[in-house]
Amino acid sequence: MSEHELRVSKIRNGTVIDHVTGGQALNVLAILGIDGASGESVSIGMNVPSDRLGKKDIVKVEDRELSQSEVDVLSLIAPEATINIVRDYEVVDKLRVERPEVVTGVLSCPNRNCITQGNEPVASKFDVVADGVRCSYCGEIVREDIAAHLDVA
Ligand code: CTP
Ligand code: ZN
Repeated sequence: MSEHELRVSKIRNGTVIDHVTGGQALNVLAILGIDGASGESVSIGMNVPSDRLGKKDIVKVEDRELSQSEVDVLSLIAPEATINIVRDYEVVDKLRVERPEVVTGVLSCPNRNCITQGNEPVASKFDVVADGVRCSYCGEIVREDIAAHLDVA
């Protein structure tokens, strides 16, 4: 890629989430709990051309690595995403996200009668099924807009 085409600067240290489904970058930030208030340096490209995907989003977060549960939820909204760990400007690790069997503690159940929605703290747990995620406690299925059910504090 020529320098004329570089849209978002390289980062020194942190994580580049590449090949994100076009239009999902803001949901990626929501999954990472980034709203700008805590001062992270973040660069975003939305709907940029991609050989593989046609259009993709890309999210670069400096000085931050992702937890497994964050990666698990990312895989649900961006199944083609690549996670690149950058240290001193070099990509030192590159992994594809994998669809997990279970997602614990990241999504909240939309069923108000679900035990996870009560006052007693019960961590949410969803089984990943073919057409979405299913609450392990009440069986409620979330099919569309999984990011709208993120349990962000
Ligand atoms: N990147 C970055 N800062 C760095 C190094 C890489 O922002 N210091 C970004 C690149 O711009 C690219 C992604 O991290 O979007 C992956 O980098 P690299 O593996 O070098 O690129 P490709 O080989 O094109 O990746 P892939 O094969 O996964 O498409
Ligand atoms: Zn439930």
